[in-house]
Amino acid sequence: MPKTYTVEIKPGFYLLRIDDDQIKYFEGLWYIPEGITYNAYLLKTKDGYVLFDAWKHIYGKEFINELKKIVDPKEIKYLIIHHMEPDHSGSIKDLLEINSEILVLGHPLTKGMIESFYNVKPKFKPVKDNEVLEIGEYKLQFIYTPWLHWPETIMTYIEDLHVLLTCDAFGSYNILDKIYDTELSPEEHKEYMFYTRKYIATVIGHYASWIEKALNKLESLGFNIEMIAPAHGIIWKNPDIIMKYYHSWSRGTSVSGKKKIVVVYSSMYGFVDKAVKEAVKVLDEKKAFYKVYRFLDYYRDKYSDLLADLLNSSAIILGTATYEASIFPLMRYILDLIIEKIPKNKKVLVITNYGWGGVAGKKIRELLTNNGFEVVDVVEFRAGQIDKFRDKIVEATNKLLEILGE
Ligand SMILES: Cc1cc2nc3c(=O)[nH]c(=O)nc-3n(C[C@H](O)[C@H](O)[C@H](O)COP(=O)(O)O)c2cc1C
Repeated sequence: MPKTYTVEIKPGFYLLRIDDDQIKYFEGLWYIPEGITYNAYLLKTKDGYVLFDAWKHIYGKEFINELKKIVDPKEIKYLIIHHMEPDHSGSIKDLLEINSEILVLGHPLTKGMIESFYNVKPKFKPVKDNEVLEIGEYKLQFIYTPWLHWPETIMTYIEDLHVLLTCDAFGSYNILDKIYDTELSPEEHKEYMFYTRKYIATVIGHYASWIEKALNKLESLGFNIEMIAPAHGIIWKNPDIIMKYYHSWSRGTSVSGKKKIVVVYSSMYGFVDKAVKEAVKVLDEKKAFYKVYRFLDYYRDKYSDLLADLLNSSAIILGTATYEASIFPLMRYILDLIIEKIPKNKKVLVITNYGWGGVAGKKIRELLTNNGFEVVDVVEFRAGQIDKFRDKIVEATNKLLEILGE
């Protein structure tokens, strides 16, 4: 059963969190055995309680029970909606059934979404970009951050508490029995950053250029942020560190500066597998930093983990076969994910093969080049002829390493 938390993180300011350890595929798409948390926040003011976001619809009852630990839900005066995706807005309907007097504040687009998604007509006040609203003793500033993750997404800065509420941005997969980043050991922090990267790549990777825009906007506003409170995962008490990671990842680079090569390949009967292993031998000899993702007949890695590693990589070695006069279907899907979710700053070496007429190599080169990736080389060989192509694969892998400066 999902665990819930109510924690007073600043005087009169509460985190309401549920750990969803039941979910398998976030958005019905991304495999997350590590789970995810949904975080809402509640602020007690002299002018009544202000709620920021909610939980996923299936946890509506639990959400109301959690609220009741602090306040009678009928007494909540304001609801600020940062983002209408149902993992945050789902249980708003449960709240509105109890309290129809609540004033909902959000981006102008939020009104149409809430009315349509949940067939409700709450009192609604649109907020403007950078608008400051005084509620009780607090000043709340709303910042439009479009496409982090939807067009209506906003953030709130609570000036007096120095807290920035960011919804999906700075969120993460994974469930820890901890509240703040400062509670993590260096090993836990390292592991957690993988899940944070996986979350960015899978959920907001498509809008990476908007991450950079939002970061610049936040920095230009000159807030004195002490705490970043996202809607998933732990709260960041070191805002500069997570901001640094975000800057780097949104550009597709690694914070450490280490050049990572992601080797990703499919193989039905082992021909591509054999060829790619020749490239990996070179990576080992040259002590290159690499990660391998395989899609085989007896084993398959996870697309979502692959995207996490691709996001901050420098290069990709991609292997697959010609299939029905095209690219092996599973690799077509992976290529689609690479094109849609990953920054284009990667050098790519392609290794393909075929039974009677090669098509995949040419198609992959075209696809990647047309979408802004640099294809360093394509090595294509006929099934079983790896001995004749070994030197070409070694040469192409060395060329890739040279280009990377390794
Ligand atoms: C269903 C299927 C469709 C294929 N279609 C083609 C094709 O259109 N053209 C071709 O040259 N080879 C085709 N092949 C042959 C594969 O490309 C070839 O066997 C390749 O070596 C497979 O590599 P792998 O076992 O490492 O995946 C096909 C193989 C299968 C199983």
